[in-house]
Amino acid sequence: MAMARPEEIGAEAVKELATERSGAPITNILIIIAMQTEAIPLVNKFQLSEDTDQSLFPKGVPWVRYHGTYKDLHVNLIWPGKDLVFGVDSVGTVSASLVTYSSIQALKPDLIINAGTAGGFRAKGACVGDVYLVSDVAFHDRRIPIPVFDMYGIGARQALFTPNIIKELNLKVGKLSTGDSLDMTPQDEASILANDATVKDMEGAAVAYVADLFSVPAIFIKAVTDIVDGEKPTAEEFIKNLLAVTAALDKAVSQVIDFISAKCLSHL
Ligand code: ADE
Repeated sequence: MAMARPEEIGAEAVKELATERSGAPITNILIIIAMQTEAIPLVNKFQLSEDTDQSLFPKGVPWVRYHGTYKDLHVNLIWPGKDLVFGVDSVGTVSASLVTYSSIQALKPDLIINAGTAGGFRAKGACVGDVYLVSDVAFHDRRIPIPVFDMYGIGARQALFTPNIIKELNLKVGKLSTGDSLDMTPQDEASILANDATVKDMEGAAVAYVADLFSVPAIFIKAVTDIVDGEKPTAEEFIKNLLAVTAALDKAVSQVIDFISAKCLSHL
């Protein structure tokens, strides 16, 4: 019997399908990475090729798909590309949501990996170069002080629980808070504290929201480029450490993918 595609069936059936799939080997993974500097070493490591016909995504968008086979996995790495007006990486929640949505529709992944750099909190034990596997995500800049809307704004979600990856790869584990700014206002800081976050990024909770809409499991691998509660100005520290920390990030992503290969979701 041909399997119904997720867009053809209801929300309950999508959840059932996801449960059923958790016992099958993972074959199709989608990696979402916001910055070119973070993406290219992985494209090279997995020998992915850039999609040149661009038929997967709507015409005119800057989103870039790299794809290939690594071990027994179909790997798609999506980078939202350079902003069409300003020519810089399309970081932040808007582009992240759009590429996640479009990629899920087109590629039907078994698992999403959102990888990238993040700010870390010294008070929570983070150091520059640390790589975190995220346990939970939430937003810190969607303040809506009306009952229930407040919780909608925070949008707290759990990442896929992967105790075996954590044990095997010896990664740090912490909560991630997402907002659309690199810097941090006092209000953001209070929300990040309330979210109990160790790391802060600009995409994670948005990717989680879209993945959750379609019941696609997602994990988040975040490497610390700057210490948010330290003395150094964030933007300077981020730029200074970006290249070196990207090497640590890409090593961790490679190890996670090696671990995933030939396993099913319930063994991660
Ligand atoms: N990515 C790297 N450092 C960050 C920070 N301090 N805030 C948000 N995203 C980041």
